[in-house]
Amino acid sequence: MPQLGQRFQQTLASYQAYAAQQQFQRQPSTLYDPIRYAMGSKGKAVRPMLLLLGTSLGSFDLSKALPAAYAVELFHNFTLLHDDIMDEAPLRRGKPSVYKAFGIPSAILAGDAMLIHTYGYLLDSFEGETRNYLLGVFQKMAIGLCEGQQRDMDMEVSEVSTYDDYLEMIHGKTGVLITACLEMGAHIGGLSPKQCETIRKVGDLAGRAFQIQDDVLDTFSTSAVTGKSDYGDIVRGKQSAPFLHALGLANAAQKERLQKIYALSVEDRSALIPEVLSIMEELGVEKSLSVQVETASSEANLLVESLEVDREAKANLINFLDQLSVRRH
Ligand code: IPE
Ligand code: IPE
Ligand code: MG
Ligand code: MG
Ligand code: MG
Repeated sequence: MPQLGQRFQQTLASYQAYAAQQQFQRQPSTLYDPIRYAMGSKGKAVRPMLLLLGTSLGSFDLSKALPAAYAVELFHNFTLLHDDIMDEAPLRRGKPSVYKAFGIPSAILAGDAMLIHTYGYLLDSFEGETRNYLLGVFQKMAIGLCEGQQRDMDMEVSEVSTYDDYLEMIHGKTGVLITACLEMGAHIGGLSPKQCETIRKVGDLAGRAFQIQDDVLDTFSTSAVTGKSDYGDIVRGKQSAPFLHALGLANAAQKERLQKIYALSVEDRSALIPEVLSIMEELGVEKSLSVQVETASSEANLLVESLEVDREAKANLINFLDQLSVRRH
């Protein structure tokens, strides 16, 4: 695992200190308790770090970018509150999901309030052209993410999805936010429009790698590591990367069996998880998906490398992307 440098650690520490100060001490507590619960349970802080690493590629006082970094983490957490309702996922970060702890109506409204507070952080921290640019990127991203989330739900009930459908879906549900974080950061840092274009390509590849790895962990790891319930994607019959990739590699009998299992009810399919896993193992799905993750991640790194910006800042971003692609949770 690559070592992340001292400057990276300092940036992370200043983000964490800023995040810890955001207490949401407002009323009614029935609205803010779920928000504090969500924001108090620690995630990996991938999106704020991408924004700050994007900013570091240029020159800007990083402390002034902290509210925008916090905004993207708040937004991400809002999406998780609603995602867990949509996915009927009972566990998040090793604890009951917000809707399990506070009920679905409160989780919906707390998510809405988090989204709206996100705009407050962005509006308060920048003005003029930068503010317009950030809000423009943010608004386009947020609608793209909704489109991706709907595609994800549509794929749960569609019989035939291709790997291209999958890539389009994950571009929406995951790639656009990762891309927006990098682009917002790069713009704050003063990178040129052409450099921002390269950064968007980096984001798309990094987002792809990130979501495939998320799917791999959901299927081949356990809740002790992921903090999410075991085999959630198989239980829900998600046409995730392991499932679609397995179909691509399977012989006729394996393919028929997998499709049959995925057409069953949640209960019946859950009883057959060991069989799904053993077909995937025979096909070497985990290994070949890890090659896909590495490939997307290396392409992203080459693009970062091509930018004519500070070497140490590039190395920090590349190391971070490498670490994400080999992450175990
Ligand atoms: C989970 O994101 C949602 C996906 C897009 C896969 P993370 O894996 O970044 O979740 P946290 O914030 O670290 O918990
Ligand atoms: C989530 O994808 C994407 C968003 C939250 C927008 P997943 O549904 O795969 O994320 P996890 O596995 O629940 O974290
Ligand atoms: Mg989910
Ligand atoms: Mg989901
Ligand atoms: Mg997942």
